[in-house]
Amino acid sequence: MRTSFYLTRFLTLLLFVVFPFYLGFRGAASLSDSAVLLSSLSERAEALYIALTSQPAAPLAPISKEAFEASAEHAKPVRATEGGRRKRYPSLPDGLAHCINSFEQYPFLAEQVLQRKHGRYAKQTPAQKAISKKLGYPAHFEKARKGIEVNARFSRQVARIAREAYHTGPQALEDEEEAEFRVVDFAFGHLSRDWSTQGAKERQAVFPSVLDGLEQHFGRNGRGKKVLVPGSGMGRLASDIADLGYDVTANELDYGAILAYHLLTNHTSSLHQHTLQPFVTKWTHQASPSSRYAALTVPDHWPNKTVKLVEGDFLEMFPQDGEFDAVVTLFFIDIGDNVVDFLSNIHRLLNPGGVWINLGPLKWGTHTALQLSAEEVLQLADLLGFDVDHTSRKSIDSVYAEQQDSLLKFIYGECLAFHCEG
Ligand SMILES: C[S@@+](CC[C@H](N)C(=O)[O-])C[C@H]1O[C@@H](n2cnc3c(N)ncnc32)[C@H](O)[C@@H]1O
Ligand SMILES: *[C@@H]1O[C@H](CO)[C@@H](O)[C@H](O)[C@H]1NC(C)=O
Ligand SMILES: *[C@@H]1O[C@H](CO)[C@@H](O)[C@H](O)[C@H]1NC(C)=O
Repeated sequence: MRTSFYLTRFLTLLLFVVFPFYLGFRGAASLSDSAVLLSSLSERAEALYIALTSQPAAPLAPISKEAFEASAEHAKPVRATEGGRRKRYPSLPDGLAHCINSFEQYPFLAEQVLQRKHGRYAKQTPAQKAISKKLGYPAHFEKARKGIEVNARFSRQVARIAREAYHTGPQALEDEEEAEFRVVDFAFGHLSRDWSTQGAKERQAVFPSVLDGLEQHFGRNGRGKKVLVPGSGMGRLASDIADLGYDVTANELDYGAILAYHLLTNHTSSLHQHTLQPFVTKWTHQASPSSRYAALTVPDHWPNKTVKLVEGDFLEMFPQDGEFDAVVTLFFIDIGDNVVDFLSNIHRLLNPGGVWINLGPLKWGTHTALQLSAEEVLQLADLLGFDVDHTSRKSIDSVYAEQQDSLLKFIYGECLAFHCEG
């Protein structure tokens, strides 16, 4: 039996680019904007929002729990609520209502981000404002609004399809304060990385190592082998693995990603059908006035429909031991509460002779039980029964969901891969 294990190590700076922190990394202003978005909504913002959206959205009253349960009899809970966390709609998977609301309320939330920028602009002295006008600055507000409308066509579609798929009915699911700008903002960043031509360079930096690792292990016998991709995000890696003939199961718990992926896989009829302008609310690190309005289209490649998506927690959704010939983790192992649980689960799910291929940073959150070094991750793998191949250890550079012509550039690290014989 031989198990290969690729390990990637990144510089600390890179680590902030990893999914939950992507927005904050790209623009601190955007992050504080999104925090403020949770506060109550101003009348002025609401008026603008109504003007902005084609179907004036008088926010619907939150539905009562009883009525909701009656209307959602098909939806199943995916995982239990963590201790003490409020969960108003037990018949919906955790986080789903929040994400549907966020996609629905996106134009409103994005408008608030603009309002805050406008507020800071308007507070200038008359002389400062005159100069700003010479720069053409006020025009950005109107142009950004047009971009928000472009994005809203996509986000509303995501929400509508989600409501159909999970039988929520037409009612509002939560108070609108429950909607969060960054849910949609992250989704746009990830869509760009996974499914736009602009994201090809980032994908090219990391996907080949993983795909080569599979080919190296299975040779010509890969067809039909069962591969699990936990934390699959927007699903491009899983799809690319499926394109090679593997039998792929993707697993994801974040509905921000799941819902957008639903739209791409099951409700898209042509390549490049959807247009996004992900930076219309992010004005930091821009090279030129117009780079704020850069548009991209998705998908640039057909998502492979043979991929089976399992929604829910990787630690809970796969009861059967030894189910997979390979587990592939990309930007994943550092994200959980305890890496011992993640690695043990990967080991349990592999059949004898199976392979685990990992690539990603070790940006442990402050909530994690252990913040291991690369060497310790390998030792842990060894302790858990993996047969680590140290010769597979190698170095690659990577960025994650970064705007192409952003002025913000980092050296993105050192990737070390290991192979071990057992
Ligand atoms: C940094 S993202 C990487 C996504 C994707 N692998 C990529 O490279 O684009 C990590 C993903 O893991 C998901 N995730 C975190 N914990 C998970 C768990 N316990 N089960 C399933 N997915 C999980 C997150 O929702 C997130 O989408
Ligand atoms: C999905 O993968 C299979 C091989 O597993 C391939 O035959 C098929 O063309 C792929 N579909 C798409 C849409 O790429
Ligand atoms: C797509 O539709 C099929 C058939 O209705 C369904 O089984 C599958 O779960 C859907 N996949 C996604 C990602 O929505």
